[in-house]
Amino acid sequence: MKRDVQVFESPAAATAALAEKFAAAAINSKGNFYVALSGGSTPRALYALLAAEYRDRLPWDRLHFFWGDERCVPVGHADRNDLMATEAMLSKVPVPRVNIHSMPAELEDHEEAARRYDELLRKSLHWPSRFDWIFLGLGADGHTASLFPGTDAVWEKTRLAVPVWVEKLNSHRLTLTLPVLNSAAVVAFLAVGADKSENAALAIEGAALPKIPASLVRPPGGELLWYLDRDAASRLSARA
Ligand code: 6PG
Repeated sequence: MKRDVQVFESPAAATAALAEKFAAAAINSKGNFYVALSGGSTPRALYALLAAEYRDRLPWDRLHFFWGDERCVPVGHADRNDLMATEAMLSKVPVPRVNIHSMPAELEDHEEAARRYDELLRKSLHWPSRFDWIFLGLGADGHTASLFPGTDAVWEKTRLAVPVWVEKLNSHRLTLTLPVLNSAAVVAFLAVGADKSENAALAIEGAALPKIPASLVRPPGGELLWYLDRDAASRLSARA
């Protein structure tokens, strides 16, 4: 596994650098380029930047977008990760609609929803082929995607997507599992803000521990990127 930890003066600088890194990988690729998008708030600026600055440079017709996780709420709900990415980027660029693969997280039956996405991934990626690029965020508690500490999802070894109940958020979610994340060609964490500093340091410099799910994302055959602002990097022992 190659690893690249970069620290930037500001969230905007970290975002711009990761956008450029992603764009270079996508532009230099051949054929379909499979991407999993992260949710939450941090990547919104990244997606907006890709739409604004790379609209005419990215090979949108070859890019296929999936999600790393989704909240189990109706389509169009303000909490949906696919809504955020659509508003920030996908509605503003010429990506074919058929290349956008939301998680069916609106289904009442969360097991069925996860099964359908697992099936879609196996078919789309020609599993065990892999994602070319997975964006991930970092929760202040060390979660990534919806792999939260203490949930069974962290231990899943065969299914590619599973439902997860997040007690502290009183929320049902769907999430990709570690077998998928760790098979990717590139996994790129974008973490900004002081509240991420403790778990960023543990995930980057510590052991791979289930209590810090982000620390378990180490793609053996791929490249692991950590792009941080100086606040999120403030507890790293060796400045990258
Ligand atoms: C989600 C995300 C989640 C996110 C972290 C960080 O659905 O919430 O996929 O894993 O990346 O919670 O969220 P922020 O970027 O909002 O801090």
